Amino acid sequence: MTVYLDHNATTPLDPRVFDAMLPFLRDACGNASSRHELGTVARQAIDRARAQVAAAVGAQPAQVIFTSGGTEANNLFIRGMAAGMKPGRITISAIEHPCVSGPAQDLQRQGWTLRRLKVDRDGRVDAADAEAAVAEKPALWSVMLAHNETGVVQDVAVLAERARGSGAIVHSDVVQALGKIPVDFRALKVHALTLSAHKINGPKGAGALVIDKRLDLRAVQSGGGQEQGLRGGTENVPAIVGFGAACELALANLDERAVRLRALCDRLERGLAAQGAVIFGAGAPQRLSNTTYFALRGIHGEALVIELDKSGYATGSGAACSSSSSAPSASLLAMGVEPELARGAVRVSLGAGNDALQVDGFLQALAAVASRLRGLQAVAV
Ligand SMILES: Cc1ncc(COP(=O)(O)O)c(C=O)c1O
Repeated sequence: MTVYLDHNATTPLDPRVFDAMLPFLRDACGNASSRHELGTVARQAIDRARAQVAAAVGAQPAQVIFTSGGTEANNLFIRGMAAGMKPGRITISAIEHPCVSGPAQDLQRQGWTLRRLKVDRDGRVDAADAEAAVAEKPALWSVMLAHNETGVVQDVAVLAERARGSGAIVHSDVVQALGKIPVDFRALKVHALTLSAHKINGPKGAGALVIDKRLDLRAVQSGGGQEQGLRGGTENVPAIVGFGAACELALANLDERAVRLRALCDRLERGLAAQGAVIFGAGAPQRLSNTTYFALRGIHGEALVIELDKSGYATGSGAACSSSSSAPSASLLAMGVEPELARGAVRVSLGAGNDALQVDGFLQALAAVASRLRGLQAVAV
């Protein structure tokens, strides 16, 4: 059995989430817009999930717009806000997920000015650069809370307060933070934030944009008027129900889980240091307790991931969404990591099911794989 160490890419479905979804996959087939009994059952299930998702981030149910995931929610925020504005400035960090940087680049092609905030060697947004960006009075601003590769946590509340003080509409992608650190809509001082179900042991294909109801957000996809007219399309009831259930579970024992995962990650990082690994973002004041992003000098990250998989350990090289490309991680390059070292990047992201035995087994497998790969390289030279 493969030991799964890639929870930032996606997580296994919690059996309790599966149980909550099952009736809506099997029997309760209603369309939430239908007037009959089965339609009402579906509508009530969505309402309950909306309340669960809202509670997970300290928001009101009416603020939750369900989408097909984090990608769609980020696109909805950027494209849906821009649709009601004249081209202006959009500021994002240099390490955003492609589903934020992609739509921002599209705005640039439509006449917007795109500014990417610099980050330091540890992947933290550069405060001076952020101040300079605020002075330019951007219309839109998006900085993620926790990074999918490094796990580095940004001071979103501080940045957001400055940006909204100068008139920006502020958004944060909190997809990787939810369930790992506390996330509170108001405390983050944002106008909108993005969530995804499959990163918190929920189903793939569900997410949400949580918004300040005063925003002039426009639909980018119109249809039957679902989700307050902001996201047309028949609701994916089982996935939304699963998302709600996963949110409730993600909040339960969050602190306890984080402490346990931190201890496991510390154990992992001590072992990695002993093997001479470079750990990216290690100097940041706060990193997710489950994430370690590292490289062994001279060894290609993809080769390591493939060989580790053969040894029974599933890890990630860079961002899962872009892992089909062998280009070094854009985020590591933005952090000033040399391309050669960045090509060596491997991400271990732990989950509730991992334990110390698995971490020790992984370290042993890594040492064996690394020595084999180094041997092969020596022969090739
Ligand atoms: C930070 C971040 N934002 C957004 C997404 C996209 O979310 P989804 O897979 O639900 O579309 C991901 C997924 O990898 C992510 O890590």
